[in-house]
Amino acid sequence: IPVDPFDLVIFGGTGDLARRKILPGLFRRYCSGQMPETAQIVGAARSDMDDAGYREMVAEAIREFGGGRACEDGTLDAFLARVGYVAVDAKGEGGWADLKGRLRDDAVRAFYFSVAPSLFGDIAERLQSFGLATPASRIVVEKPFGNDLATAQALNATLARHFDEHQIYRIDHYLGKETVQNLMAVRFGNMLFEPLWNAQYVDHIQITVAETVGVGGRGSYYDKSGAMRDMVQNHLMQLLCLIAMEPPARFEPDAVRDEKLKVIRALDPVDPHHIVRGQYEASAGDGGYREHAENPRSTTESFVALKCHVSNWRWAGTPFYLRTGKRLRARTSEIVVVFKDAPHSIFGAESGRHRNVLAIRLQPNEGMTLDVTIKEPGPGGMRLVDVPLDMTFAKALGPEAADVPDAYERLIMDVIRGNQTLFMRGDEVEAAWAWTDPIIAGWQKRGEVPKPYESGSSGPEDALMLMHRDGRKWRDIRA
Ligand code: BG6
Repeated sequence: IPVDPFDLVIFGGTGDLARRKILPGLFRRYCSGQMPETAQIVGAARSDMDDAGYREMVAEAIREFGGGRACEDGTLDAFLARVGYVAVDAKGEGGWADLKGRLRDDAVRAFYFSVAPSLFGDIAERLQSFGLATPASRIVVEKPFGNDLATAQALNATLARHFDEHQIYRIDHYLGKETVQNLMAVRFGNMLFEPLWNAQYVDHIQITVAETVGVGGRGSYYDKSGAMRDMVQNHLMQLLCLIAMEPPARFEPDAVRDEKLKVIRALDPVDPHHIVRGQYEASAGDGGYREHAENPRSTTESFVALKCHVSNWRWAGTPFYLRTGKRLRARTSEIVVVFKDAPHSIFGAESGRHRNVLAIRLQPNEGMTLDVTIKEPGPGGMRLVDVPLDMTFAKALGPEAADVPDAYERLIMDVIRGNQTLFMRGDEVEAAWAWTDPIIAGWQKRGEVPKPYESGSSGPEDALMLMHRDGRKWRDIRA
């Protein structure tokens, strides 16, 4: 279904995120017919450039990062005709009146802040003082949303001076992933799971976001941040919320976000013995974290594994194990719900231990498997075996099902539709920092150094021990 006509201004329109994600994403939506012919995209940045120069840059970005989605001949030109550019000075007067002249009164108006957070205030202020923002305008901001609670509060306060909360779209691109939304469909669209979705039946939950890439060219940002700030405070926290939250009364922005917020607020502080930090070592032919970050004494973690507890009636006693890291064995993001043992085995001890395990795969090969215990076929008596009910989407729904919009595409279209469900509210972000800050402060106070781990492994040995100690085991990291 096409969205309403819109004017989308991308501040930082020549930057990395715009070139890699935003512009190719918009192009793909255009190809899918979701973007109306009257849509307008305006790049805004410091460089002196005209519309033609920007279109050339956009075309190049789409060729490089477009992902090759099939699109008819001539479509790129038609898309580029919708694209323009205005040079603006975020901290001065230049360009703002020109930019205003490009905007239409009868179109949805959205401003994407794809710039350093230090510019949020300047841009927000000028959108108001030059009369570009209307009460219906939307602004989109990216992570990092603050570096700790104090900076996040300051950012929220800055934005709140110029925009209402219902106008602010804070992106966590994990919420735009197909399977992340499917998590809600599975939990709240079926009778089967929700009655078992609590501490009485669930032994523990694992959330793994493993990457094979290192910190590459992003070392200078990453070294100040580390896996805790870069991944756990936002992406893993969002996954945890969706898994642990109570059913919202309706699938509406504040109903969903209220429930997520309650989960974050119910998180216990993490015991320092329940966290393992790691840093990847050099491998044959490539440097380790410290070389990549160009900081030979860096104590920043490229891996975190932790155990946490959601202290409420539903989850008391069920641990959540979270881990994420760079340079691991495979790229895989997975949520695993491990159910408890059946209360009594009628087949005797020799039938072994069998558990139902629901694994929800976010990427790659999106889908779910549910391990169920059955009798091993054959005459050998009552031998039990666990087999997966495989709900890999591409298998179940055909290959088109695997061809889902990228997270950014979906989220930008939600901005235009005015749907904030998949965006973080200011209080959520602050609550997540309030939980994260003491963990990081503890490391600093104790002068803790991350454990080295081999590139291409599953992370430091201690992360395995974190679960072994509890008589549990991580699922293998496999593609
Ligand atoms: C980003 C982090 O937010 O998410 C990166 O800053 C990380 O460090 C990326 O690589 C992972 O996203 P995805 O979609 O590739 O899982």
